[in-house]
Amino acid sequence: MWSAFPIVREYLKGATASSLAEARLCYEEMKTYSHTYAAVYFPDEFEEIMSYSSHITFNSLNQYEQYKEQVQGAARKISCGLRVNPEYSEIETELYNPAAPGSRLGVAASQVKDGLPEGIEGLHFHSLCESDSYTLERTLEAFTERYAHLFPQLKWINMGGGHLMTKEGYKTDHLIELLKDFRQKHDVEVILEPGSAIAWETGFLAATVMDVVENHGIKTLMIDVSFTAHMPDTLEMPYRPVIRGAGDQIPGKYNYRIGGTSCLAGDFMREYSFDEPMKINDRIILEDMIHYTMVKTSMFNGVKHPSIAILRSDGRLDVVREFGYEDFKGRLS
Ligand SMILES: Cc1ncc(COP(=O)(O)O)c(C=O)c1O
Repeated sequence: MWSAFPIVREYLKGATASSLAEARLCYEEMKTYSHTYAAVYFPDEFEEIMSYSSHITFNSLNQYEQYKEQVQGAARKISCGLRVNPEYSEIETELYNPAAPGSRLGVAASQVKDGLPEGIEGLHFHSLCESDSYTLERTLEAFTERYAHLFPQLKWINMGGGHLMTKEGYKTDHLIELLKDFRQKHDVEVILEPGSAIAWETGFLAATVMDVVENHGIKTLMIDVSFTAHMPDTLEMPYRPVIRGAGDQIPGKYNYRIGGTSCLAGDFMREYSFDEPMKINDRIILEDMIHYTMVKTSMFNGVKHPSIAILRSDGRLDVVREFGYEDFKGRLS
């Protein structure tokens, strides 16, 4: 949500990107060169990626070999890194676990046991997801055990994202101690890439009940947004979104499924209970739908796409983007 970048810039220096489009957005809207890491780089894009990047991290030794000369010949110095796999993770959801055995993300320790290629100045790992500083501590132990022999040749270590440092109860002091201690032991710059931490609990998706249907005694509230198109993680991960004022099904209360507006049969959430009977035009507030929701939406079925708005602290609502037929049509041909 780049309309929010000006406020993010007050708190973070720098940005990270995983594609040419993201790197360009960092450059044009965050006004910074990006720390770029992509699973693969494309020959016809690499020159432009370099023009937006201060650091470029490669996912494999092959990829580094392919682009090494191009980076070394760049007009502006770009620092190269290699993504490694710490081979340790506490993430239980496979979809979000880059350190699982067989993972395609990051070089394995066995591939760099004899050292790094010339020109690599940094190591990058990204294996946390919605984690606290204690998970980072244990991950750092595993990472250090496998890769410490490479540290003397490094200028920086990028510990990736997944640090949910804005979540209530996160021990920022512990994180600071941990990083200071790491830096004292190893003479490297430390880089963090908090992503979802920036957007954690910053906004909701507001829906309206358009109809109430009933089948075999199951009542469904048909809302004007879709789980598959607008909240895909609820079906992919999967997770059950929090709905303001509603809870899990309770026998005897007013229980309703929440039905998405697409024609996918599975585009619904199992029953939630409400204190009052629900009716057409009631609001359904789906909490915390900014981070991995907005960026993963699709235009599936051409269903009405939610607008993006900023609710100001004085109560003003600024609608910053509305979507229409041209957005839908323009995605395909
Ligand atoms: C390389 C890298 N860095 C940082 C992030 C941000 O992670 P998070 O949003 O979990 O903080 C991601 C997420 O996809 C990533 O792939």
